[in-house]
Amino acid sequence: MKVSILYDSQTGNTKMLADTIYNSVRNLVDVMFCGNAVDAKSDEITDSEIIFLGFWTDKGQCSDKLKGVLPMLGGKKIALFGTAGFEGSEEYFQKILSGVKAALPQDCQVAGNYMCTGQMPVSVRKRYEGMQEKGMPQADALIRNFDQALGHPDEEDLNGVKKFALSMIRS
Ligand SMILES: Cc1cc2nc3c(=O)[nH]c(=O)nc-3n(C[C@H](O)[C@H](O)[C@H](O)COP(=O)(O)O)c2cc1C
Repeated sequence: MKVSILYDSQTGNTKMLADTIYNSVRNLVDVMFCGNAVDAKSDEITDSEIIFLGFWTDKGQCSDKLKGVLPMLGGKKIALFGTAGFEGSEEYFQKILSGVKAALPQDCQVAGNYMCTGQMPVSVRKRYEGMQEKGMPQADALIRNFDQALGHPDEEDLNGVKKFALSMIRS
């Protein structure tokens, strides 16, 4: 089986998932491409039976950069994975995933999906602290959320994406 692993990752969290997928499947399948989605070539996509597609959550959606690549995935079987900085609830993740799925070409088949929390840069906490100093009511919850996300993706998240990857190539 031939697969490709395409992702967009600004601060490395989603790349961690992609690297774990690569290491989990590389001895079991032919990995045609593993890297930044914008660098994937159309023949590598065409030859791949499954495309592992990774995104980071940018204002509730995948990034515009990744959206630019989606049209070349028409007709493909997609294993979707992503990271998000806010809350860890399944409901929240499902909402984001629905938005990303809706942005895919209509004839894509999403075979499965996996999401986990991804920590945010310290600059974001500094911004929240500034909000707290100004007495903005939402600041405490944002700081709590930031601190909860620290250290993610963690070992459990990476074990989860490994299981997901293996289930995708066996399905
Ligand atoms: C500009 C920007 C916008 C973001 N918007 C959201 C968002 O709407 N929802 C969310 O849960 N996380 C949001 N995040 C957090 C990232 O999605 C999260 O930290 C992710 O793991 C980053 O992945 P990466 O390291 O692969 O870039 C945002 C981060 C940045 C920098």
